[in-house]
Amino acid sequence: MCGIVGYIGAKPASNYLLEGLFRLEYRGYDSAGIAVQSGDTIAVRKKTGRVGQLAELLKASPVTGTHGIGHTRWATHGQPSDNNSHPHTGGNGEVVLVHNGVIENYATLRSQLQELGYVFHSQTDTEVVAHLVAHQLEEELKLGADPDSNATYLRAVELTLKQLKGTYGLGVLFRDKPGLLIAARLGSPLVVGVGKDEHYLASDASPLVGYTDKVVYLNDHEIAMITANSLEILHRDTGSQTPHIRVLEQTASDTELGQFEHYMLKEIFEQPTSIENAFRGRLDDDEATARFGGLNLDPQELRRIDRIVLTACGTSWHAGLVGEYIIEEFARIPVEVEYASELRYRNPPMSERTMVFAITQSGETADTLAAMRECKRKGHPTLAICNVVGSSIAREADGGIYLHAGPEVGVASTKAFTSQVTVLTLLALFMGRIRHLSYPAGQRMIANLRKMPDKIRQTLECHNRVKEIARKYYTAENFLYLGRLHNFPVALEGALKLKEISYIHAEGYPAAEMKHGPIALVDEQTPSVFVVPRCQIYPKVISNMEEVRARRGPIIAIACEGDDKVAELADDVIYVPDVDEYLQPMVTSVPLQLLAYEIALLRGCNVDRPRNLAKSVTVE
Ligand code: M6R
Repeated sequence: MCGIVGYIGAKPASNYLLEGLFRLEYRGYDSAGIAVQSGDTIAVRKKTGRVGQLAELLKASPVTGTHGIGHTRWATHGQPSDNNSHPHTGGNGEVVLVHNGVIENYATLRSQLQELGYVFHSQTDTEVVAHLVAHQLEEELKLGADPDSNATYLRAVELTLKQLKGTYGLGVLFRDKPGLLIAARLGSPLVVGVGKDEHYLASDASPLVGYTDKVVYLNDHEIAMITANSLEILHRDTGSQTPHIRVLEQTASDTELGQFEHYMLKEIFEQPTSIENAFRGRLDDDEATARFGGLNLDPQELRRIDRIVLTACGTSWHAGLVGEYIIEEFARIPVEVEYASELRYRNPPMSERTMVFAITQSGETADTLAAMRECKRKGHPTLAICNVVGSSIAREADGGIYLHAGPEVGVASTKAFTSQVTVLTLLALFMGRIRHLSYPAGQRMIANLRKMPDKIRQTLECHNRVKEIARKYYTAENFLYLGRLHNFPVALEGALKLKEISYIHAEGYPAAEMKHGPIALVDEQTPSVFVVPRCQIYPKVISNMEEVRARRGPIIAIACEGDDKVAELADDVIYVPDVDEYLQPMVTSVPLQLLAYEIALLRGCNVDRPRNLAKSVTVE
């Protein structure tokens, strides 16, 4: 949530700042702004709306300078407005800063600062930080601190941070100290890009692609003092740190739209490849198992595990539910799937033999990170299933498995879901093979997994059929999504996709639970989407369909090729290839992604930037 950029070097800062904000826009798009410093003048331009609107403003009212900061906002405190947009100014313009995160004690600090005479122009928690830094700076200077020393400004920031409760990623400029940019992190990610006689700042590595491939990820409680030629990192407890420079592997083409109109569609169509990338190099034919480089646990330790907790949010949580079914089936280990936002504050009994996996595309989801930290603090082996290399969760976990799905830009998660399910299937195979799963059963799983990219390619051929169906139903205001066993999480995921990008109310349910309440919603205007591929309880799902049909509810069915029975019952059918039950979610989720996409388009919604949402939820 919220994206931050910064630049300090010899080039005009606004170029990188603006391009960086475009690339970070997925983190929030309520407003955008930049501040650029030239000598002791800091020019601020900010505007409600998208980064494109800021770009227009900058054309009309350009800024010059070789260092600056920028921000794209997902509103937490104060509605989207020009005044609430970042950057915010502290004191009488001595300090200008951008912030990602939430300052929980802002109301108290605001009152204290108002009593001292500071005037507020916004309703944000961020403006409190700007005034507080200005105040601390003034106090330091009164005590005789050297106004020419970077240390004076660092001290003002340090004293401010000590008073904050909450989370922050900060980029700070000082009017009277041109050539200095201070960044600080607690709970909200920040990356410093290292160039030749220049440095960059960003909330994640995507803005840096094409500018530099050398990056330093800041850790919590670290402050970076950045000039064009120097980077100094200080940790609150351990003092000066040697910057750990890593090489970025992302390339610009990873995030190009190519022939596609939207990132969501591009990412849906990337799934044959992203699924293949998730298992590439991890299938061991000789031993009929999966291999992972980064679990950091030996087979003895793994054999001791008698319970697995999967924790995640949103779509990743749905992938976890699929994982629960598959791991329990093949590895015979009890699995619980916990909402990270609940787990972080709950205190469920967990024995020393419990292993925890945080599942996350971004690796930055605040609740997932907090839940993982809590489990790690208690001493559980804590691993990550994550897409973004170098993200906070990937770095803090004891070990883990990367998805290798490539950047997912669309706010609605698609390819990450199928990659997470693939990795969880590999985990089931791996855990199964160190326990009860036979060699031939392991071989069968491997052979089936290898076929999945082709099965997804075949599934994508349903796109035109999905378009027809979308045209028929896009005006409906309510949808039900129903499935059973492995396809129950798929029903949840289908409903989530529809509501987040088309703003249609949709509920996902286990098909048989419908009778216990949701069936009251069924009427001629409410389509029910049944996910009903052939499975062990197929006849039961057919009965559930009959129940909806008896109440004249329109039925859209996702069924296996050649299933005439479903065709008799449903108003519309989307056929998918027949695969083993545990692999069905990878296949059946695809038409539901396309259905949500097409319906959202017909309703004129912004599919890649749905209202009120952001790709990476870095606040609680
Ligand atoms: O990056 P994460 O996987 O941790 O994100 C979790 C959720 O915020 C995310 O899946 C969200 O629900 C998506 N918008 C769903 O499409």
